[in-house]
Amino acid sequence: MNEPIITFENVTKSYHLYHNVIGGVKNFLFDIPKAISSIKNSRFEALHNISFEVYRGETIGVMGRNGAGKSTILGLIAGVLKPSKGRVSVNGRISPLLELGAGFNSELTGRENIILNGVLLGLTRAEVINKMHDIIEFSELAEFIDQPIRVYSSGMVARLGFSVAIHTNPDILLVDEILAVGDVEFQKKCYKKMLDFKKKGVTIVLVSHSPDDIEKFCDRAIVVVKGEIGDIRRIASKPYFTNPESAFIRGMVN
Ligand SMILES: Nc1ncnc2c1ncn2[C@@H]1O[C@H](COP(=O)(O)OP(=O)(O)OP(=O)(O)O)[C@@H](O)[C@H]1O
Ligand SMILES: [Mg+2]
Repeated sequence: MNEPIITFENVTKSYHLYHNVIGGVKNFLFDIPKAISSIKNSRFEALHNISFEVYRGETIGVMGRNGAGKSTILGLIAGVLKPSKGRVSVNGRISPLLELGAGFNSELTGRENIILNGVLLGLTRAEVINKMHDIIEFSELAEFIDQPIRVYSSGMVARLGFSVAIHTNPDILLVDEILAVGDVEFQKKCYKKMLDFKKKGVTIVLVSHSPDDIEKFCDRAIVVVKGEIGDIRRIASKPYFTNPESAFIRGMVN
């Protein structure tokens, strides 16, 4: 457990802000060089100089208020975002971060999105088709799987994303708030699955707004406050580790 699998070294991430253009189309047309330089200068720093490590086999919770920078951290780990400054190193195969706009195409059906993402992850079409049944079964979306995912609810998209992610054999499982949008039954299934992964030594990064879930499930928690690490807490009580028969586990697994 002592080998870091994810390392953030002095990572800053800033995003371009586009509202200047939208707010000032006239100015943009009259003075294009100035407009371009204003776009370049108009950046928002979502993460400021953060450093932390996640160790192999660890389950780490990421907490913080809306807009604090949690999903940005996950995007950097997944490699879908690049740091503006500093370095992110990841030493293993990462599950994809699939949501609308990030990996999922809203015009394609659920099934087509599964194939698209499987292939993008380096599987052959035949390999994806082999896993298709399990992915659809876990997601419980058989009825909707041939509909474009723009008709899915946000919970349904999250289900599909989680289901694809767990069938990609990751060393690092990234989970962004599935537990917030999935219904109670699905949450239980996700927990059970994450517990299996945890037992197999898969590293898990779990973004959640539920302190209870984080405390029960994670070894440590990072609290993100306005783009900075506010606190890293080691969680002392891990009932399922010390006592697998605990009420928590029975509640989740049964
Ligand atoms: N593509 C983007 N362009 C501009 N700003 C962005 C972009 N993505 C995120 N941000 C900004 O970066 C900050 C952090 O966003 P992030 O999505 O990481 O927050 P979060 O902690 O995941 O919030 P939530 O709990 O609401 O999911 C926010 O202020 C957000 O507006
Ligand atoms: Mg988020």
